[in-house]
Amino acid sequence: SRPLRVALFGFGTVGSSVARILLESHPAGLELSHIFNRNVARKRVDWVPDSVVWTENAEDVLQASSSNGGPDVIVELAGGLDPAGNWVRTALANGKSVVTANKKLIAYHGLELEAQAAAQGLHLLYGAAVAGGIPVIPGLEHGLAGDRVDRVEGILNGTCNFILSKMQEGGDYAETLAEAQQLGYAEADPTEDVAGYDARAKLSILTRLALRAQIHPEEIPTRSITDVSAIDFSYARDLNCTVRQIARAGRIDGELAAVVGPMLVPLSSPLAWSRGTENMVVTTGHYGGDVVFSGHGAGGHPTAVAVVSDLVGLAQGSCRIALPSTPAKVSTELEVPHYIR
Ligand code: HSE
Repeated sequence: SRPLRVALFGFGTVGSSVARILLESHPAGLELSHIFNRNVARKRVDWVPDSVVWTENAEDVLQASSSNGGPDVIVELAGGLDPAGNWVRTALANGKSVVTANKKLIAYHGLELEAQAAAQGLHLLYGAAVAGGIPVIPGLEHGLAGDRVDRVEGILNGTCNFILSKMQEGGDYAETLAEAQQLGYAEADPTEDVAGYDARAKLSILTRLALRAQIHPEEIPTRSITDVSAIDFSYARDLNCTVRQIARAGRIDGELAAVVGPMLVPLSSPLAWSRGTENMVVTTGHYGGDVVFSGHGAGGHPTAVAVVSDLVGLAQGSCRIALPSTPAKVSTELEVPHYIR
């Protein structure tokens, strides 16, 4: 059988890394066929072979029949709800599976889009949407499918971790935020990062996969890291702690509690070890106990690895099936705690 034809939507940091990996390591069963970008003249590069079609016309690629040279799978890397959401709906309506790194789209519309994909026997894969290159999503779907996960917590935003771990060493908040922006880690509007909106979207995805419970990102009590100052780190040190932006969700007496915000983390906790843009997720299983996932949570290559891994899963026919999830009874606890454990 012929390889799956892959269309990239977006050719920024992650998109160009996905193209590099596809062209350099030639994963079996995959062929880069199309690249959509709003400004092809600005993005075109000479290391992409001429066989790849560059286009500024999204609809043409989404609607091109795969029996007539059109792509079989769309990789959505534009981010945001719009127009990415419409591209994904159109791709699925035209019989194409979708791989995306779009945490916001999956957090807000994942259930509806997964239902649309499943109804047509297609796949919607988003292993890159949470914690970039760390296989947390496949870990929850496959590796931990045999456990009953009671709690999931971790560091889900590289920008906040970069800022707070620099502040721990005496760095200044505004300077380190500017540095994170320059390095390309921060969202286009860094309020998404520091206010906790990025982490709460990721937490709502993990809650669905780990705890089989649906919680809307805006239902998650969230505190910004903007109020954290140098003095907090000095108090934290007196308590053998540091400060990190923590996202956590768990079941307490049958109710789901989820929070995001800066918290005191004991220096003995693995969550205190993460530096820079590292992400970390700790799951607590009823049978298997704690599992720690850590690695690069942002950046072109790590995120691209997760995207390509989803594509390999599609090509091998080994990708996951949608997990059942039920609307959760959400705890009325509205305070973000200051301590963990
Ligand atoms: N702005 C995000 C972060 C990018 O800092 O973690 C990866 O989702």
